[in-house]
Amino acid sequence: MRRILVTGANKGIGFAIAERILEEADDTFVFLGSRDRGRGEVAADNLQRAEASRANRVQVVEIDVASDESVERAAREVRDSCEREALYGIVNNAGIGLSSGDVSQVLNVNTRGIHRVCSAFIRLLGDGGRIVNITSAAGPNFVAKCSAERKVFFTRQDVTWREIDELMNECVRIAGGAEAFSSRGLGDGSPYGLSKACANAYTVYLAREHPQLVINACTPGFIATDMTRQYEEGRGKRPEELGMKTPREGATSAVFLLFGAPEGSGHYYGSDAKRSPLDRYRAPGTPPYTGE
Ligand SMILES: NC(=O)c1ccc[n+]([C@@H]2O[C@H](COP(=O)([O-])OP(=O)(O)OC[C@H]3O[C@@H](n4cnc5c(N)ncnc54)[C@H](OP(=O)(O)O)[C@@H]3O)[C@@H](O)[C@H]2O)c1
Repeated sequence: MRRILVTGANKGIGFAIAERILEEADDTFVFLGSRDRGRGEVAADNLQRAEASRANRVQVVEIDVASDESVERAAREVRDSCEREALYGIVNNAGIGLSSGDVSQVLNVNTRGIHRVCSAFIRLLGDGGRIVNITSAAGPNFVAKCSAERKVFFTRQDVTWREIDELMNECVRIAGGAEAFSSRGLGDGSPYGLSKACANAYTVYLAREHPQLVINACTPGFIATDMTRQYEEGRGKRPEELGMKTPREGATSAVFLLFGAPEGSGHYYGSDAKRSPLDRYRAPGTPPYTGE
């Protein structure tokens, strides 16, 4: 079985990724990560009831990516369930905070959460195993507004986790909102954009440290979920009128990075499953980034 952990899979894009993994082939198995076991069980029931061939291919794993203890407990549960077999993949999808102003909290889930999960689970992956980090175009959009020096930081191929960690600590210490961030070359200081830019940088670092694995990040696109509902309601329009897509469509790039043949490792992809740069937005359907 190709066993894959998806975090934050009880709803939204994570649920859609879990469903598309199960549809991919009969030998796939999903560890459905949910920080609330009850919500996870409901999601798992929905997945298994929809299609008989999915029975016994879903297991709920309680995992709060903001907590060391929860992530370590989940890793032990997955290790015991896999017995001696390797895990095929990890999809770091859990995320918060499109509209949150709390830098520390957003970084703790969106960036440190990915680091926490990778640190605990990476040893369970076999050679050629895949990691997909669900980041966002908010990352490159954030970097685009940074100073030249900060742009170099966010696009460096030799960046380390220690440096990313130090930058996040610096950002948590900054008080005073957008102006304070801007005066330090950190764009508009959007906690969400910052967290996703840091998660993209971490992807570069992690891939370099683990050349035996295939590790990439991607944006799902602009997707109608609970996270974007406020935006929708604020404008009084339907998702399609706002150019939003479905969670199922939002799973496309992640599914490609899990089962397709991405070029190499340590890259960031757009929602059209084509490479995108780390420091500026590339619209889906436009020519892919070539690394130059
Ligand atoms: N929607 C978009 O347009 C869009 C665009 C770019 C990137 N993204 C990214 O796509 C990913 C999924 O977002 P979504 O739109 O599907 O949002 P969503 O519907 O709000 O789902 C978020 C998921 O993450 C889980 N989660 C939040 N904090 C967690 C934690 N500490 N530990 C474990 N799970 C946690 C949530 O669990 P609960 O149900 O328990 O809250 C939920 O399952 C996120 O990383 C988001 O940043 C979304």
